Amino acid sequence: MERFIIEGGSKLHGSLNIKGAKNSMLPIMAATVLNSSSDSVELYNIPNIYDMHVMKKILQSLGYTVEFQNNSLLISPGKALNYSIPDELMREMRSSIFLMGPLLARIGRVKLTYPGGCSIGPRPIDLHFKGLEALGASIREENGYIEASASELTGTEIHLDYPSVGATENLMMASVLAKGKTVIHNAAKEPEIVDLQNFLNAIGCQIKGAGTEKLRIDGVKSASACSYRIIPDRIVAGTYLMAAAITRGDITLKEIIPSHLDAVVAKLKEAGVEVEATEDSLSVHNGQLKAVETLRTLPYPGFPTDLQAPMMALLTKARGDSLIVESIFEARFKHVEEFVKMNAQVTVRERNALITGVDRLVGAEVDATDLRAGASLVLAGLAAEGTTVINNVWHIDRGYEAMEKELNQLGARISRVNGPAGSVENF
Ligand code: UD1
Repeated sequence: MERFIIEGGSKLHGSLNIKGAKNSMLPIMAATVLNSSSDSVELYNIPNIYDMHVMKKILQSLGYTVEFQNNSLLISPGKALNYSIPDELMREMRSSIFLMGPLLARIGRVKLTYPGGCSIGPRPIDLHFKGLEALGASIREENGYIEASASELTGTEIHLDYPSVGATENLMMASVLAKGKTVIHNAAKEPEIVDLQNFLNAIGCQIKGAGTEKLRIDGVKSASACSYRIIPDRIVAGTYLMAAAITRGDITLKEIIPSHLDAVVAKLKEAGVEVEATEDSLSVHNGQLKAVETLRTLPYPGFPTDLQAPMMALLTKARGDSLIVESIFEARFKHVEEFVKMNAQVTVRERNALITGVDRLVGAEVDATDLRAGASLVLAGLAAEGTTVINNVWHIDRGYEAMEKELNQLGARISRVNGPAGSVENF
């Protein structure tokens, strides 16, 4: 088991470039299946993270040659395109479900199992299924396998019951080759949806409206290849801003799109953090942390659920009482138990967490239970007195490229070790 050993107490200083967004890269990698030319798709600004390697393996299992070098991907079609995704790859991450829409659109058939992913509460895929059925797919479930087929998909009006990010993306990818026009109402508005639209239009599809609640898709006969640069990762950027703030440090993040973080910056400022923006950078400066009244996670442009845990780490050190309401996922407070081991004062009732700021966090041995919970424990470890050991850092590797190296570049003291579980004193 790989673990992080963090010596707390260093203030972060310096600057860092932020790489491409995991949540853009994954649907866009899946969307390359729509390319029916023999040319390769090139994707730039690709983070070297665990989930990218899983999606790479999925594409390889479908018959693609995929090369990853210098944060770029070259995805080349093979002779034949398989329609079935191995169960062990489906289980690796939630985003494996993204293959459903494009495979149905391209070859009219897909066979897979239920996707895995972070355990942050039930994550149904009913909205994906409902939308695909509205487009004309028939979906059968048997012996744990899901098989979907469609001789032809036909454009239609889809009203999403909830602006699900994944369902919006899957349905965009399914409808681009459908006959006629599709309208998706109550679509998700995340920047990653806009990025997917831009990629799909670059390979010859016709979509308008991303970033609003109504998407209009005019079906085209085929799509081809392109070269495309993924947008920067707003969640990684937000995590590192919070890491600097919790250590009372001073950092600048470059190559980002600051407007994607408006809701986050507003909350950081409310918490007493000084933030400065330029066209493509954000800087935070040492400030006196104070509690925020209520922080509610919401679909974009609201405060992202993916930064709820890192923001909670920050608030454990902020003077006063803060309330966090997690409105997107049912069980996304698993980090609380770990924070408490580090002397934080947090109580949870259903979807509400009440955080009372403390003067001192204290190093302890804790478990990364999921990707963002793991990241939040790194932040707590940076601010804690003494040594913190974080187990199961593979969760963190799913979404952050070599987080320990990036933070050490800013002055943190984190080492990655391989070994059995034990107490802090063993290190
Ligand atoms: C995506 C992000 C994830 C982020 C989340 C919310 C990717 C790869 N992952 O996940 O990092 O935390 O958006 O911003 O982009 N729901 C249903 N039925 C469905 C689909 C979703 O009930 O068919 C519910 C979910 O259980 C959840 C809510 O809708 O409560 C939001 O989920 P969704 O927006 O779909 O998130 P993901 O696409 O899974």
